[in-house]
Amino acid sequence: MIVAGSHSQVLATALAEETGRRLAGVEFERFPDGEGIVRVDEVGESAIVVASTVSDRAHVELLQLQDAVREAGATQVTTVIPYMGYARQDHAFAAGEPVSARAMARAISTGTDRVLTVNPHESAICDYFDVPATAVDAAHRLAGPLPDDLTNPLFVAPDEGAVDAAESVAAGYGRGETDYFEKTRRSGSDVEITPSDAAVADRDVVVVDDIVATGTTMSESVAVLQDGDARRVYVACVHPLLARNAYLRLTRAGVESIHGTDTLEHPVSEVSAAPAIAAEL
Ligand code: R5P
Repeated sequence: MIVAGSHSQVLATALAEETGRRLAGVEFERFPDGEGIVRVDEVGESAIVVASTVSDRAHVELLQLQDAVREAGATQVTTVIPYMGYARQDHAFAAGEPVSARAMARAISTGTDRVLTVNPHESAICDYFDVPATAVDAAHRLAGPLPDDLTNPLFVAPDEGAVDAAESVAAGYGRGETDYFEKTRRSGSDVEITPSDAAVADRDVVVVDDIVATGTTMSESVAVLQDGDARRVYVACVHPLLARNAYLRLTRAGVESIHGTDTLEHPVSEVSAAPAIAAEL
């Protein structure tokens, strides 16, 4: 049965429909001291826990769900982490810092037989799990909502790390070139984008990234494209975190549309990652 985390109810439902599995009943409550508790219904012998770890609380909730399904009798537990929080902390960036992605992966490994996670920032983080872990690519599905009539389309990644996602969207679209910019991050909210040599004038450009968090990377990329006289600019991301005023920044920047998947539940999450996950289950 499919067991949904509180932040992944839409995707878990889509995955249940996609795979023909039943959706377990789950309750989420909070004690007066702030601690959370989950309760699951009957889950059968094989449980697939689907929970994005979008916050510290969501991490704890995932560990509780894994424990709860074992308590309810599951002998085979698969954990699907549509969006894995802390994955960007994939190494110690400064002395004294943890490898947070590894710490999270180790904790999650204790309650599961295998892990699937969608477009992690670096697929190498799968090695941090102590159980078999698979990186699922759902980026190609972001081609779905793009208009059929893109003019001389260019799929561009804001940095080299996202070029696989850009290539995946281009492949899903069926035509167009792929390129990437250079990104220098000065702080969490300050990045410099250096354009590539690709001509963008009069072309429709789709900027593809794995995550849009503060929207800084995307809005700087959009500005570079507008300076180059791109015809229309679209934004596609696997994980539409869209923190704070990110959505406003991008819409005010004049992008045609913003598309994301349901690894995170947001009004732009109209593309489901469920078929990509189902194919790897
Ligand atoms: C980092 O390299 C990621 O691929 C994204 O570019 C980054 O997480 C986006 O963050 P923000 O929206 O805050 O610029």
